[in-house]
Amino acid sequence: MKQRKLFIAGNWKMNKTAAEAAQMVSALVKKVEGLSDKINMAVCPPFTALDRISPLLKGTGVALGAQNLSEKASGAYTGEISAAMLLELGVKHVIIGHSERRQYYGETDELVSKKAKFALAAGLLPIVCVGETLQEREGGKTSSVITAQLKGSLAGITPDEMLKTTIAYEPVWAIGTGKTASPDQAQEVHALIRKLLTDLFGKAVAEKVIIQYGGSVKADNARELMAKQDIDGALVGGASLDAEGFSALIRNAIS
Ligand code: PGA
Repeated sequence: MKQRKLFIAGNWKMNKTAAEAAQMVSALVKKVEGLSDKINMAVCPPFTALDRISPLLKGTGVALGAQNLSEKASGAYTGEISAAMLLELGVKHVIIGHSERRQYYGETDELVSKKAKFALAAGLLPIVCVGETLQEREGGKTSSVITAQLKGSLAGITPDEMLKTTIAYEPVWAIGTGKTASPDQAQEVHALIRKLLTDLFGKAVAEKVIIQYGGSVKADNARELMAKQDIDGALVGGASLDAEGFSALIRNAIS
């Protein structure tokens, strides 16, 4: 039996208007009622839906998350969203350094660490993403890439802050492709991440950190992934978009 409580978060990416998000969340909270004793759950809709669904989640055991935030407090940063803006809407978690942000919007480990520090100082709980590309995996570079990303992305984080931070291991080649890392492949990297966390923050902290797996997690593969020693939850994209499928995935994860 694992000591850590599983944490599953849905990353909706650029999907759903506020009205569509409200509809999905209303259905979801009914389907997962009573499960929050066994598992931590969150949904991370686009910014434009946060305000609408925040009241629908109150008291349901499903937390609200955002997909990004600025590393600045306020000011002349057109298009950016601050921690204070998220907190006011009841946001608890924030995804930082998703591979799509790294790949398409040039986010570096340095920026990711600044955002994570900023989120933590403001009282948000970061979900920091790391993951190798197919080329890196095939070139035998998975360990070195993950090591560098993790160290860079967590630079300046204290052990106390690390306890509030979730890591999401998301191999880029498995995101949205239908190709999941096998449970053994994922476990191998999760164990590496736990070892790096031990070196950086000490064993007591590392043993408590939630390490999610992400990349084509579905209702039918959730159970075998969660059975692995160091896989403590999932960051779910496509399969988190409908209430039926996402609730089935959550149920399978704890079955
Ligand atoms: P996917 O996305 O579940 O659609 O592969 C996961 C993610 O990018 O967080």
